[in-house]
Amino acid sequence: MHDLLPDQSPRWQFLERCVRDVLARYGYEEMRMPIVESTDLFKRSIGEVTDIVEKEMYTFDDRNGDSLTLRPEGTAGCVRAALEHGLLHNQTQRLWYQGPMFRHERPQKGRYRQFHQIGVEAFGMAGPDIDAELILMTARLWQALGIDGLELQLNTLGSSEERALYRDELVKYFSAHQEKLDDDSRRRLQSNPLRILDTKNPDMADVVAAAPTLDAYLGEESRSHFTAICSILDEAGVAYVVNPRLVRGLDYYSRTVFEWVTDLLGAQGTVCAGGRYDGLVTQLGGRATPAVGFAMGVERLVAIIEELDRVKLPKRADAYLVLVGENAQHAGLAIAEQLRSDLPQLRLITHCGGGSFKSQFKKADRSGASLALILGEDELASDNIGIKFLRKEAQQLTLKLNELAGFLANFLQETTED
Ligand code: HAM
Repeated sequence: MHDLLPDQSPRWQFLERCVRDVLARYGYEEMRMPIVESTDLFKRSIGEVTDIVEKEMYTFDDRNGDSLTLRPEGTAGCVRAALEHGLLHNQTQRLWYQGPMFRHERPQKGRYRQFHQIGVEAFGMAGPDIDAELILMTARLWQALGIDGLELQLNTLGSSEERALYRDELVKYFSAHQEKLDDDSRRRLQSNPLRILDTKNPDMADVVAAAPTLDAYLGEESRSHFTAICSILDEAGVAYVVNPRLVRGLDYYSRTVFEWVTDLLGAQGTVCAGGRYDGLVTQLGGRATPAVGFAMGVERLVAIIEELDRVKLPKRADAYLVLVGENAQHAGLAIAEQLRSDLPQLRLITHCGGGSFKSQFKKADRSGASLALILGEDELASDNIGIKFLRKEAQQLTLKLNELAGFLANFLQETTED
């Protein structure tokens, strides 16, 4: 679990701002759900025989003896909340949420025990158009974030009936090759054979590669749903790779699944993943409601933004107000307030805590500000203010206090044009 320090937060804020803007342009509305839910919710939705539920949840009994879990993902809580508040009946919903998720995984680069997701869920729409629109929206997001080079992988898992037939076939196939399976896979053979396809064990690569694929079991409806998504993406010019081994680590998916992957981050290359989950609302006690969504890993996206280093982040301050002497310290705060009223775009740090010119200039320099505004007893007595350029070679200026707002307005305009 990580602390987010001030030198990193501008990238997070940039990402959050971009996502918020793009989602609003598609009509998505924000939800905020609790971080803790009943353990049972995750068992019923994510699936009892998944890595998340079997090994990774932070589960504890509260004082009433109820079993609670720190949410490992957001879809289950979003469906629970939407059901509880009657958002799903005879309606369509486009919802999003963000926040920390918790999984007790082995930490490594790009994989943390507390990590952050931005999740998006669309309810009440059964056709392939919404699946495709979600994917197009993610593509627009990468553009807004200045990220390129991601690969879109796409697959269909068919309906639950089709998957049941396929599952029987897989069990037959893997049972015939039991000696090639590791312990985990042997255990999954009966409980969740599809997950064997997702193994990271290199010794099993051959047996998995030769396994039957779902393709032969897909019915007409699943097939045409998938083809329609592909053709919308083709038409919109979004490239994708069909990956028949893409199965996802959560059990609630049916039909469409997709992942956006990068090779910039080492092993943890999936930055955004999701799919359709038409059965989940019923599974959690609601009426049948088609649903599709995805979640992005914020840490991973921020790491790419940092790696590519293309985004110009706003600096912390434009100006640092140096105040020397007791009178200047008092007058300075009122002057700063007036400047903030006159110039809403100005980022101004007022020195607090006294000290010599020298020590205050040091702080001004460290603040990243472009200008130091200097108010000492002499300036105050003559209604003047000194201006020192901290980031370029230029003569120090003295202005009348009443000229300062105009000067700063010009300065800000010039610097944004740069
Ligand atoms: P997920 O694939 O488990 O899906 O997670 C989505 C994304 O969260 C991953 O692609 C990854 O970027 C990020 N992520 C997951 N685990 C970690 C971790 N330990 N450290 C850092 N980042 C991580 C879901 O959670 C589904 N709820 C997505 C969804 C929404 N499907 C439909 N609607």
